[in-house]
Amino acid sequence: MQIGIVVFSHTGNTRSVVDALATRLEEEGHEASVLALRPRGAYRPGDSSAELDEVIDPRPFDRVVFATPVHAFSLPAISAAYFAQLDDLEGVEMVGLVTQALPFASLGATRTLGQIAQRARERGARYLGGASISWSKRRRADRIEAALDRLVGLLTR
Ligand SMILES: Cc1cc2nc3c(=O)[nH]c(=O)nc-3n(C[C@H](O)[C@H](O)[C@H](O)COP(=O)(O)O)c2cc1C
Repeated sequence: MQIGIVVFSHTGNTRSVVDALATRLEEEGHEASVLALRPRGAYRPGDSSAELDEVIDPRPFDRVVFATPVHAFSLPAISAAYFAQLDDLEGVEMVGLVTQALPFASLGATRTLGQIAQRARERGARYLGGASISWSKRRRADRIEAALDRLVGLLTR
């Protein structure tokens, strides 16, 4: 299966998970392409006029992961800008991944995954589910492993 992983990562946490996910998928015989969203110019979190350098088309892939941190309990402006650029996601099957600092998913991750699902569906994609990771230190590695297991399951079943 050809899997595209579209990622925004401001400080590297989400990117590190995505790289581990790509490795896992390749070990299982899939092709994984990591496609990083790059803000045009200096990115200021919360700047709703944020724009992207290029449009990354998710349609060539069998399944797509959209990965992002939580900013202010929500989808960061640049991640929202990604969806705003795409109008037709008919035929796309999408999975969400979010990372956040706070210990409970109710403090941003659940809402942000919901925003990914809503934006994907509004454009005609099928949303398959998602995973979130709290970056708080205690047992972080276990949470990352659990999220990777869930994502690999969603992407390859
Ligand atoms: C501007 C800003 C807002 C943030 N807001 C939240 C938040 O509402 N809830 C939370 O748990 N973490 C929040 N965080 C922390 C990040 O979501 C967390 O560190 C994440 O893992 C960063 O991912 P990244 O390194 O891929 O950018 C925020 C970080 C930034 C920079």
